[in-house]
Amino acid sequence: MYSPEIIERFKNTPTPFYYYDLDLLRQTLDVVQKESDKYNYNVHYALKANSNIEILEIIQSFGLGADCVSGNEVIRAMECGFPAEKIAFAGVGKSDVEIDIGLENDIFCFNCESIPELIVINELAEKKNKIANIALRINPNVTANTHHYISTGLEENKFGINRWELESVLEILKTLHHIKLIGLHFHIGSQITDLDDFKGLCLRVNEIQRWFYERQIVVKHINVGGGLGINYENPKEELIPDFKSYFKLFNDFLELKPHQELHFELGRSIVGQCGSLISKVLYVKEGVNTKFAIIDAGMTDLIRPALYQASHKIENLSSRVNINDRYDVVGPICESSDCFAKNLVLPKTTRGDLIAINSCGAYGEVMVSQYNLRMAPKSLY
Ligand code: LLP
Repeated sequence: MYSPEIIERFKNTPTPFYYYDLDLLRQTLDVVQKESDKYNYNVHYALKANSNIEILEIIQSFGLGADCVSGNEVIRAMECGFPAEKIAFAGVGKSDVEIDIGLENDIFCFNCESIPELIVINELAEKKNKIANIALRINPNVTANTHHYISTGLEENKFGINRWELESVLEILKTLHHIKLIGLHFHIGSQITDLDDFKGLCLRVNEIQRWFYERQIVVKHINVGGGLGINYENPKEELIPDFKSYFKLFNDFLELKPHQELHFELGRSIVGQCGSLISKVLYVKEGVNTKFAIIDAGMTDLIRPALYQASHKIENLSSRVNINDRYDVVGPICESSDCFAKNLVLPKTTRGDLIAINSCGAYGEVMVSQYNLRMAPKSLY
């Protein structure tokens, strides 16, 4: 993954920084395109995972649509070449200004999460004398085996419209003449590695579709969200996720009505493995039962370990010493949670060594903060 030439470039770049392997991104997109084309599926890229301009321009060049969760993401997607008619706008709390951005640009669809939101979109569309396309985000109440912070498909979560509300939603929709129901939207969570969870989603969608069918409603678009996980433990063994089995599963288990189109919103599985956070060891400090490798990247550069107890594979790219030792790899921020790994076996590590934290392409750079007045890390391609 890191050729000697790349490591030479790393040595000459101020740390910490994000490194993106754009060839790997293109190879991943090739597979996404090939496997989804088999079934004529529409894949939208979830910008929230990484909204870096270079990356977005490559993704849109493969013909993907965009899944946005803020007005600024809608604008960024359009600036990077995603056509408005392929942009879905989701989120539980869209502001009026953000809804107006979507309306003015005639985006593909608003994924709506509540009755009050439907009413506001209708009002704002009426003011502009437009009809907004909407999909109802329905809470499928399906469990996904993932961290509870990133599981979304249960009734206790804030997301989506619950099934017991659907009857009243349909009643209200009859009175809203500036919105048009074109789709149903679902999402069960993120970093899902057990494909059976998606099978559970398919069966639930079939059931919900039957409920609508009994009421003479067949929408044109079904959107099953994102969530396909990546291999954080051994990234090199699986640099490209198993999109073949993933799309096949939907083809096998999801019953589409004639002329219905299926949409996906994938973030992590597309960009996760192409990015790494590169950092340098500042100090190696003796602790009571451990050694601390204190690096110049912190939780401000990559918050996933501190926030979700996420584990990323860490490598020492400099050390050639064949003696292994154990280290707690920590950052410089004044918080105990600023820790990337505990008791990790690394070759003997010393000041100045280059450290790579792998699988950071998704939810890495986008979640950078300026806590402690830290500078945002730059990117290298
Ligand atoms: N669609 C919806 C409605 C979503 O909420 C999400 C992610 C996606 C699609 C894209 O999911 P993906 O394919 O990337 O799993 N910051 C967390 C992840 C938050 C995910 C939020 N929603 C992390 O670092 O793990």
